[in-house]
Amino acid sequence: MKYEETWNKVEEYITRKVIREPPYMKSALRRSVENGLPQISVPVAEGKLINIMAKAINAKRALEIGVLWGYGTMNIASAMGNDGIVTGLERSEKHAEIARQNIREAGLESRVDIRTGDAMESLIRMRDSREGLFDMIFIDADKAPYADYFRICLDLSHRGTIIFVDNMVWNGMVIESDSDDEDVKGIRRLYDELEKHDGIDATVIQSVGSKGYDGFAVIRVLRDTHK
Ligand code: SAH
Ligand code: DHB
Ligand code: MG
Repeated sequence: MKYEETWNKVEEYITRKVIREPPYMKSALRRSVENGLPQISVPVAEGKLINIMAKAINAKRALEIGVLWGYGTMNIASAMGNDGIVTGLERSEKHAEIARQNIREAGLESRVDIRTGDAMESLIRMRDSREGLFDMIFIDADKAPYADYFRICLDLSHRGTIIFVDNMVWNGMVIESDSDDEDVKGIRRLYDELEKHDGIDATVIQSVGSKGYDGFAVIRVLRDTHK
């Protein structure tokens, strides 16, 4: 498609002109490439939005579901003071270890707690042990259980919690109502959940660039949703 070249050039232009990132992001990205990790961290523009949003709401407690090499994690942690804490859930020991190295090198280790294992198991444990509620949540792990992640995240939210969800457009496949693909079906189940839920305010922004055609949801919890 002829627009793709323009999208990538514009992304490069935007990144160069307006997005300021700490230098450790570059070395962290390099480490992820050297270790053969999938290059599926959020687009830089989205990472920066998450960073700005965390600052804007003065987030003290944040949760990330799907850490990879820690790009999203560091974007949230660097927005906080030393009294902030980001809990990251990651299934892959290898990803978690590389993320921990990156976070240590960035000097953010006192604000980050990465827990390995299946995210849903960790989430159930967090809910049942009443560990506390989050000001900001970023859902970005496997897509099939997206609606389940969202529902349990509401149990971990309070009035005003901001929930970000990545990959809400999925190369446009999200409108394929007859899809057999588990990822597409999972993302669509989350749309159904958003449609019927009256306690939230939500939007989905489409995005294009080097990470392809995708998008993300920003959801604000209107009322206390925890039990
Ligand atoms: N949020 C990251 C990117 C996450 S990529 C960023 O933007 O920087 C998705 C991650 O989710 C991968 O690291 C993958 O290992 C992890 N993941 C996939 N399924 C998972 C599960 N069931 N529980 C926990 N982590 C999972
Ligand atoms: C892919 C992209 C993502 O942002 C993600 O969270 C998982 C997978 C992908 O392009 O395959
Ligand atoms: Mg993603």
